[in-house]
Amino acid sequence: MSDRPTMTTTAGAPVSDNQNSLTAGPRGGVMIQDYQLLEKLAHQNRERIPERVVHAKGWGAYGTLKITGDISKYTRAKVLQPGAETPMIARFSTVAGELGAADHERDVRGFALKFYTEEGNWDLVGNNTPVFFVRDPYKFPDFIHTQKRHPKTNLRSPTAMWDFWSLSPESLHQTTILFSDRGLPITPMHMNGYGSHTYSLWNDAGERFWVKFHFKTQQGHEHYTNEVAEGIIGKTREGYQEALFGAIEEGRFPRWTVQVQIMPEADADKTPYNPFDLTKVWPHGDYPPIDIGVMELNRNPENYFAEIEQVAFSPSNIVPGISHSPDKMLQARVFSYADAHRHRLGTHYEALPVNAPRCPVHHYHKDGQMNFFGQKTGNVDAYYEPNSVSGSAAELPSAKEPPLKVSGDMDRYNHRIGNDDYSQPRALFNLFNDEQKARLFSNIAAAMGGVPGAIIERQMAHYRQVHPDYEAGVRAALKTAHGYEADTISTAAE
Ligand code: NDP
Ligand code: HEM
Repeated sequence: MSDRPTMTTTAGAPVSDNQNSLTAGPRGGVMIQDYQLLEKLAHQNRERIPERVVHAKGWGAYGTLKITGDISKYTRAKVLQPGAETPMIARFSTVAGELGAADHERDVRGFALKFYTEEGNWDLVGNNTPVFFVRDPYKFPDFIHTQKRHPKTNLRSPTAMWDFWSLSPESLHQTTILFSDRGLPITPMHMNGYGSHTYSLWNDAGERFWVKFHFKTQQGHEHYTNEVAEGIIGKTREGYQEALFGAIEEGRFPRWTVQVQIMPEADADKTPYNPFDLTKVWPHGDYPPIDIGVMELNRNPENYFAEIEQVAFSPSNIVPGISHSPDKMLQARVFSYADAHRHRLGTHYEALPVNAPRCPVHHYHKDGQMNFFGQKTGNVDAYYEPNSVSGSAAELPSAKEPPLKVSGDMDRYNHRIGNDDYSQPRALFNLFNDEQKARLFSNIAAAMGGVPGAIIERQMAHYRQVHPDYEAGVRAALKTAHGYEADTISTAAE
């Protein structure tokens, strides 16, 4: 026993007995002066923090990003220079389920990356899909409400989902991916990751290029059907955690090929689609993906809560040479995430070890709850700025991003006018072989159980505009799954 450290209170005093309460006589009651018991119960009450409002269930690991290609003419970011090796952490997640949700649910998967670069943390908070359900941030909370529980039944509502989607044709591209094979990967290692948004790269000459980031799985794409996944969930709700944690423990390190698509700044005015529209991809034929390196995950966290539950990713975390774009969704996300972190983790969430940059940090923020580091200005006398105090942190003008051209009248522009929501879903639909199409149809039909006919018919009109075969396929699958036929149901709905 002598080689074991002494158990103490949180204040460091030795604990003599961690088995028996302090009582008046052997039968009790318990003395309120049993502070150790009070501390134990109080700490237990505080073990949970709010789960993420979305992407609550997740799995993560540490790794390395190695750059092998040369895109130095596009960006000055040190993390993207040839030969750079940068430590990083990844967290994968499902979107809709709560913290205890089953891993093998059909859902979009989060693909969040934090690169601890020598110029500060760079976060790329993407998904396993290159597009998203909505293109205006006003619609994000509404969309998420349809994915979460009904206020009265406390059940998830297919009616709400399809009501919203059928009124939001910009969702067609993403829902086509969601209900295709890629909506249910067998593990987080068997899926791609996409930065999804258009970002900027900028170089020392002050030139800006638009960029999309892609992470292509080297494990191959593998998917489960709904039926197989149901069987797996019956046996384990933690299949992704088991697979990712297990692979890394056994030295089978998952890898992704890192690619970028680059668009010259002026091309943004020429493409037939808005290149800042998150519901669109850039066709590979127009902007071919360029291999720039490899991301490998090779170390499991020691403590899930400290390192995966408390990790805080934010699209606001960029470094010199990488920046944002006019994408309206991205602009809103620049605000939303740090706000969520302050609520979920506290004011100084960036000082938690998993979030702390691996480079020197100096700023003039002061005090606040749970401040264990004092102030980080470089000199105790410099608690304001500007100042003339030696050793105090100063600006770095060379880190300034080149100007971004903006134009137009301030207004609320209807994002559903003048946007082609059908061509890119059609290009995707045409990629699927007959078996993939059949699974797409039956997955959609399965998800439409109980949805009123009027909503189904509204959605059918969108499928018809993508491809007549899309509509016909879903109709046939609906008949098989639910005995649904347009005439009878829409009559019933009237
Ligand atoms: P391409 O034929 O050049 O590219 C098609 C891409 O689609 C593939 O490279 C692959 O992307 C992806 N893909 C292939 N099979 C499937 C599948 N079963 N489910 C989902 N994605 C698949 O054509 P385009 O670039 O013109 O794109 C056509 C359509 O492909 C788009 O409308 C979009 O829906 C989809 N797509 C396009 C991507 C892009 O960045 N251009 C990325 C992903 C999908 P990957 O190599 O990323 O796996
Ligand atoms: C998580 C907001 C769109 C990917 C979150 C969280 C919020 C949020 C508040 C929880 C953050 C936390 O508590 O740590 C929004 C808003 C969006 C939006 C307001 C649109 C306006 C997107 C898009 C993507 C995305 C388009 C992907 C391309 C993710 C991922 C996570 C997440 C991967 C989980 C991060 C993690 O693992 O910790 N989002 N989101 N989100 N979001 Fe979004």
